[in-house]
Amino acid sequence: METMTHNSSYQGVKIALFEPDIPQNTAAIIRTCACLGAKLEIIEPCGFLLSDKRFKRVVMDYMDEKNINFYQNSNEFFQEKKEDRIILMTTKASISYTQFKFQKNDTILFGRESAGVPENVHKILKYRLTIPMENNKRSLNLASSVAIILAECLKQTKWTQILKKI
Ligand SMILES: C[S@@+](CC[C@H](N)C(=O)[O-])C[C@H]1O[C@@H](n2cnc3c(N)ncnc32)[C@H](O)[C@@H]1O
Repeated sequence: METMTHNSSYQGVKIALFEPDIPQNTAAIIRTCACLGAKLEIIEPCGFLLSDKRFKRVVMDYMDEKNINFYQNSNEFFQEKKEDRIILMTTKASISYTQFKFQKNDTILFGRESAGVPENVHKILKYRLTIPMENNKRSLNLASSVAIILAECLKQTKWTQILKKI
């Protein structure tokens, strides 16, 4: 898969994955973003080959390349996102996503399955949110956490207007 030209005219929520490790999770997230209408942004390197035939076959029906941006590394991502509001989802935050007002053009960043995001990324991001969990539970699955947050974000920024029209 080639690196895409980043389309800055896109209006709407963006889901960003930091160096994802597990192809099944990325495939599920590609499908969720395609079905619910969100742009997906993937910060490479990934822990698997995006060109892998089995991966391509699984995402084939949902892989609209206009809706996916690839960044060669996190420097490129943060450089291009200088003007954007980036919200980090992490188990290490004290503010729950339920207390947060999302905006239409937010970029919501998720960490890699094995290690989240590095400490320096934590430090540079002003907005850090968590999904509250039961005591002594380590973390949610990456694709599950994306689905929870994307639903809340769309509920606040897009679905409300649709409901009002009915
Ligand atoms: C499997 S988790 C990573 C766990 C990793 N060992 C860590 O300590 O961050 C993958 C990603 O899913 C998201 N995530 C999972 N559970 C979450 C939670 N309860 N609150 C916020 N984000 C969560 C985060 O973005 C996390 O980096």
